[in-house]
Amino acid sequence: MTILKNHSLKSYNTFHVDASADEFIEIQHKDELKEILLSKEYRNKSKFILGGGSNILLTKNLTDLVLKISIGGIEVIDESSKHINIRAGAGVVWHDLVLFSVERNLGGIENLSLIPGTVGAAPIQNIGAYGQELSDTFVNLEGFYIESGSYKIFDKQECHFDYRNSIFKRELKGKFVITYVTISLSKNSAVNINYGSIKSELKNLGIDAPTVKDVSNVIIKIRRSKLPDPGELGNAGSFFKNPEVSVERLAELKDKCPDIITFPGSSDKVKIPAAWLIEKCGWKGKRIGDTGSHSKQALVIVNYGNATGAEILNFASEIKKSVMDEFDILLEEEVNIV
Ligand code: FAD
Ligand code: EPU
Repeated sequence: MTILKNHSLKSYNTFHVDASADEFIEIQHKDELKEILLSKEYRNKSKFILGGGSNILLTKNLTDLVLKISIGGIEVIDESSKHINIRAGAGVVWHDLVLFSVERNLGGIENLSLIPGTVGAAPIQNIGAYGQELSDTFVNLEGFYIESGSYKIFDKQECHFDYRNSIFKRELKGKFVITYVTISLSKNSAVNINYGSIKSELKNLGIDAPTVKDVSNVIIKIRRSKLPDPGELGNAGSFFKNPEVSVERLAELKDKCPDIITFPGSSDKVKIPAAWLIEKCGWKGKRIGDTGSHSKQALVIVNYGNATGAEILNFASEIKKSVMDEFDILLEEEVNIV
């Protein structure tokens, strides 16, 4: 285990914000993690857990000890005629787990293809896309409480999964390190192609009976056409969550904007695309200095080069204020502000 001092985090966050960590350790094994959590030197020092850095905005240099979780390994731990349970290390790249599944024709996470980041961060906001969420296949996760170093397994119910949310983004925010995640994949599941343009893309390719791999390939194609590649343009995906409103509130909004777009929300609520609200407020494609709203996806805030975390946050706050003034809707950040 090497302890790096005054370490640059620029290549560890997909916004490519230039910030540093006073102390930085890469964790390859759960025993190393336990050792650090219980060590005399680091027990009482505050810690920040880092995965792939694709859902954080660094607004300052970190005085915490940064623990970059790189625990690897994908293993089949259980199998029946219908399902396979797979346990993956928190440091595994999420899309590598998707590819592992898709190559074996195992269904359940193919719609989550190409989401950046690590397996260990996937439960934090219950990653979701194109009609699937992690919670659909989730079995349990393992890890350690940061303060006490004690080990715990969380089953699905205990994680309190919700849209872009879980207990780890609320009550246990910054208090628990995930080391392993187990999911259950289906050997013969029907693919889920009802969301957005999946069906029409498959039709264009002449695919009538899509396999898990066909769906994954189409999702990759759609995502590449819509979202900027963080390798080329710094971003963290959707900056805000899509807000949910009551049916009564929607009726009022419809009076004002008959063209409003909606999706089903949780219980009796409706979801309004934040991208639509932001575009309506005139922000789509707008740039201030080195930050801006992406020209193809208004909800994605980008770093054109040397924007600071504070500048990006300030830009996001301006957007938030506009949407509040125009629609009386409070946008909530999806990205973790650090
Ligand atoms: P990080 O950004 O490193 O961390 C995120 C949070 O999780 C931080 O609070 C961190 O402290 C905590 N954390 C990380 N690892 C652990 C761990 N092992 N234990 C405990 N806490 C931990 N998200 C979606 O849901 N759907 C999408 O379609 C989607 N599309 C995206 C597209 C792009 C281009 C980008 C850049 C991002 C997108 N995201 C999407 C957001 C992001 O990919 C996910 O939130 C992802 O799960 C973040 O993983 P990460 O490893 O990069 O986490
Ligand atoms: N739209 C606009 N303007 C835009 C972009 C989109 O008005 O600039 C409208 C379109 O009409 C479209 C609707 O908004 O019908 C929804 O857009 P899109 O399909 O691109 O999805 P989204 O709601 O913006 C969500 C997730 C994404 C996920 C996609 C696909 C949230 C906050 N975001 O985006 O997740 O990949 O759906 O399922 O829920 C992320 O979390 O980082 C992320 C990228």
